[in-house]
Formats: sequence, C-alpha cells, structure tokens
Amino acid sequence: MKRLIPIMILCNFLLIKHSGLAQIPKSPDVNGKEWHDTQGNFINAHGAGILHHNDTYYLFGEIKKGNTWLVAGQSWEDYRVPAGGVSCYSSKDLKTWKYEGVALSPVKGDTTNDLDTGRVIERPKVIYNRATKKFVMWMHVDKNDYSYSRAGVAVSDNPAGPYRYIRSVQPNGQMSRDMTLFQDDDGKAYLIYSSEQNNTMQVCLLNDDYLSPTKIFSRILVDRRREAPALFKSEGKYYLITSSCTGWSPNAATYAVANQVLGPWKEYENPCKGAGADTTFGSQSTYVLPINGKTKTFLFMADTWNKTDLKQSGYLWLSLKINNGKVEIKKFVY
Ligand code: DGJ
Repeated sequence: MKRLIPIMILCNFLLIKHSGLAQIPKSPDVNGKEWHDTQGNFINAHGAGILHHNDTYYLFGEIKKGNTWLVAGQSWEDYRVPAGGVSCYSSKDLKTWKYEGVALSPVKGDTTNDLDTGRVIERPKVIYNRATKKFVMWMHVDKNDYSYSRAGVAVSDNPAGPYRYIRSVQPNGQMSRDMTLFQDDDGKAYLIYSSEQNNTMQVCLLNDDYLSPTKIFSRILVDRRREAPALFKSEGKYYLITSSCTGWSPNAATYAVANQVLGPWKEYENPCKGAGADTTFGSQSTYVLPINGKTKTFLFMADTWNKTDLKQSGYLWLSLKINNGKVEIKKFVY
C-alpha cells in the first residue's frame, strides 16, 4: 500500500490538472495565517460563505479589525471587535482571490442602527434570485450581549455589491442567531438559524424574492444546542453540519441528514475523522461549497477563531466527501 500512495497522489494531481473543473486548491493557502489576496493583503472574511455566479466565486465574510474586548457581565466568553461590515473577494479557481471591496458597509455613530460598529454583524451569506435578478445577502445582526437575535437582509444588483441594507427580522417572531442560507434546485431559498436561545435550530422558507421569511418554518435539532450551520445537498439528500455552543472555542461537529429541507432531520456522529476531530481540527463550520461537476465532493469551510484577538482568526478549508451516505471530513487529504 505504501508504494501505491505516491502513484495515487500523482494520479490525483493529473486529474486535477486536466479536468478543467474548479477544484479544491491543493494545500490551499487558506489553511494558515498567511492567506493573502492578489494585492498581498490579508484576506479578511470570517464566518464566510461563497456565491458561485457566472463562472466566478464570490467570497463574503465578516471584516474583523480593531482591538478585541470582553463584554462585561456575560456568563460566557463574549469577546468582540467592532462590527466591520462585510467584505467581498472574487476568484475563478478558489485559489487566487481579488479584493472587490466592502460589500456592506457598517454605520458609524448610530447605536440604534443594526449596522452600527458597536453592534454585531456575523456570518453573511449571499444567493442570487433569478426572477428578480437581485443578489440577496442575509446575515446575523445583534447587540453585543446577543439579546437582539435577528436576521438582517440586504440587496444588490451586482454580485460584489455594494449591498443596500433593508431591515432585520425575527422570522415568525423567533430568535435568529448563527445562520446560513440554502438555495434549492427548484429556486426555493431557506434561512437556517439557531433559535430559542440557541437550544433549537429552525429552517424557514423565504418568499419568492428572498427578502422576507414566509410563515412556513420548522424546528429541527430540538434541544440539541447547535450553531454554525452549513447546509448542502448531495444526490437528493440534504446535509447539515453544525457545531456545539462553546463561544469562540472549537468543539466537535455533528451532521444531520434529511430528505426535505424542512425536515425531519436525523443527527449523526462527528463527520471529522482522525487527530483533532474532537475540535473540528480547531475550527468551527461556516459553509459547504459544492465542487463543480462532482456530486459527492465538497469544500468544507471553517473558521479558526482567535478569541482574544479576533482579527487574527484564521480559516480552514478541507475537502468533504460523502462516502456510502456518510459525511467525512479529514484534515490531510491533499
Ligand atoms: C459562536 C458563533 O458561531 C460565532 O459566530 C460567534 O457568534 C461566537 N459564537 C460568539 O461567541
């Protein structure tokens, strides 16, 4: 077997080189602190998601800059930086990233505004609405103590923005914290969010314009206390990776599977395998991107938070495979 490994690596390399498909970059630069854009600046896109539109990947994430402080009077490690808005980077190959600018700007000096720098803007995700031809961004907006618990929505005519903030909502009166978006093959889109004081996750169908929640929603992973949702689809089944709730400290992920987005969902064991699996290799999930032309290979995107200096947080991108219906994420697969 040992002799076979170099041959397998070579075959894999040739396959990647000649397939013409977007591939997970080999040994991606992202997996370390020194991840730069084409201008040589550090990529600042935390809690990120990716929009794939017209052969271009657009990466959106939280801009974290400035000093980190600990919010007083909390029972958990509530470390914060000023809300920096949402950045956007573009790439053709998932490896070389061009800075497109600030897609959604924060607001300075208006503490009543959802986007004020003194608030929280986290986990932005963008999808394209083919009917309205608008790009729609949803994100978690909050106060520093997480008491506001709302989902904010913004819209743009261009993928990279700028995005115009519309408003925030609590879908059907429900709290909405860590969140993601999922757009199904039939064009329906869903908001998935930690709710009920993080005890339960919810899935809510959005309106046809993707700008408001409908009344159709379900409670899933009830009393499981999960956050950091990342939802994807493979061969007709839906998969949802989540973390446990331990603030900025990494913990073991689990995954759940469903035949319909609204559920029922069945939760399974940790998809991470090997050394470091019990902390998701020191990271927390944020997004899972399908790799072009492959139905069972995905890019698992996660954050390696530096809680006492959040702007120094890093990123971990790994390949995720569906193996006999089971999700597998391994650290060293390249
Ligand atoms: C974990 C969440 O997943 C992050 O997005 C962030 O909200 C931290 N908690 C805050 O502690």
